[in-house]
Amino acid sequence: MSSNRPEPAKPLWSSRMGFILVATGSAVGLGNIWKFPYITGVHGGGAFVLVYLICIAAIGVPLLMAEVLIGKHSRTNPIVAYGELATAQGKSRHWNWVGWTGVTAALLVLSFYVVIAGWTLHYFGLSLANGFAGADRAAVAQAFSDLTSDPLLMGLYSSIFLGLALWIQSRGVRTGVERTARLLMPMLVVILLLLVVYNAMTSGLGDTATFMFAMDFSELTAEAVLIALGHAFFTLGLAAGAMLIFGSYLPANARIPGAALWVAGLDTGIALLAGFALFPVVFAAGLDGGQGPGLLFQTLPLAFGQLPAGAWLGAAFFLMLALAAFTSAVSMSEGGIAFVSSRFGCSRKKATLSLGVGVWLLSLGTVVSFNIGADWQFLPGRNFFQSLDHIVTNYMLPLAGLGLAIFAAWLLPGRTSAQVLNFRQGGLRFQLWLWLTRLIAPLTIVLVFLHALEIL
Ligand code: TRP
Repeated sequence: MSSNRPEPAKPLWSSRMGFILVATGSAVGLGNIWKFPYITGVHGGGAFVLVYLICIAAIGVPLLMAEVLIGKHSRTNPIVAYGELATAQGKSRHWNWVGWTGVTAALLVLSFYVVIAGWTLHYFGLSLANGFAGADRAAVAQAFSDLTSDPLLMGLYSSIFLGLALWIQSRGVRTGVERTARLLMPMLVVILLLLVVYNAMTSGLGDTATFMFAMDFSELTAEAVLIALGHAFFTLGLAAGAMLIFGSYLPANARIPGAALWVAGLDTGIALLAGFALFPVVFAAGLDGGQGPGLLFQTLPLAFGQLPAGAWLGAAFFLMLALAAFTSAVSMSEGGIAFVSSRFGCSRKKATLSLGVGVWLLSLGTVVSFNIGADWQFLPGRNFFQSLDHIVTNYMLPLAGLGLAIFAAWLLPGRTSAQVLNFRQGGLRFQLWLWLTRLIAPLTIVLVFLHALEIL
């Protein structure tokens, strides 16, 4: 059985750097380049960015450390980890619900993530072929609806995307996942910087800086604060078991806090830079940055269509988006794959394939949600994709996050967590981590819940 396993029983990153690259690859995705700029646009810029940064620092980083800590300490997959550590403390094995919820959520996210990611392939092709040159608003809207109204085309793109991601994963932790991150993450950063430099030399970055950093608290609603928090969770890919399983592959001497700061810092830096890659182009074309989800697939092509080098810029932009989405997609099923292969004693390839078939079938549900099934309601007033997104983002991930925070900060003995984090238990840094994770994180997550339940 173990002879056909391509990986050693306990896979390990080649170094802490390998972990940082893979975890950053997981964190940096559609959330950074598509969602962050558009929600910033909708919620009025600077004040929203500030709240988001506070959420990352006060909740994101401590929870990221907590999740990696549980992985590194238990050295097993997310579902087993919570149960084992809980029993060791004389608590119920059923704490494994935290792992189950997170791992299931990650697979569900993957099923709709690949559909949106598939759009980037289409837009990359359209841009290269100079398909947006001189296009007006109607033509760009038409291009978008030509894609989304065609279930076969969309299904083809999402299947290609999912197939490639699963193929990389089936090749193993070091030879598949880590190697891909080592190759694609630097490419992504180079493209991003080139776009920002191009903008700086042509239209300038001043308007974008004002837009993103000028504080206008009048636009900041309670709703916006909750969105900032939810996004902090999503963008770090927290509580989904991925960071936990990545932590379980860390070399014994790797220090967690520094690695977590790198991942959160790079993720935030790339989200902010994405704003500087995108908004200057939008503003130079005289368009509005506050248009919502259509910012990337409708406003931006319109802007590229008016620029002389628009085809190249557009192609570079959508390629960058595809790379970002790919490294995220590659990370999402790791927790599930590790669980299935150890639970059923099968190879990584078989585990990937069996989970992959399930994810693929679900992805078809999202594909048809944009066309033939647009009106098929699952939850009241929501089609399949909207229901899935709603349940996962507003319920499952916050619930797993709550479990993670309580587990790491209340249930694990302080001595253990301080030791695994390389902190002195009585020291300021440990106490800061402990109380942010004990109180601030759970309380804020409960607020989000009350909001999702429409009590708040
Ligand atoms: N962080 C990714 C993004 O910003 C998405 C992501 C990766 C994710 N892994 C996850 C989201 C796990 C939820 C759960 O696009």
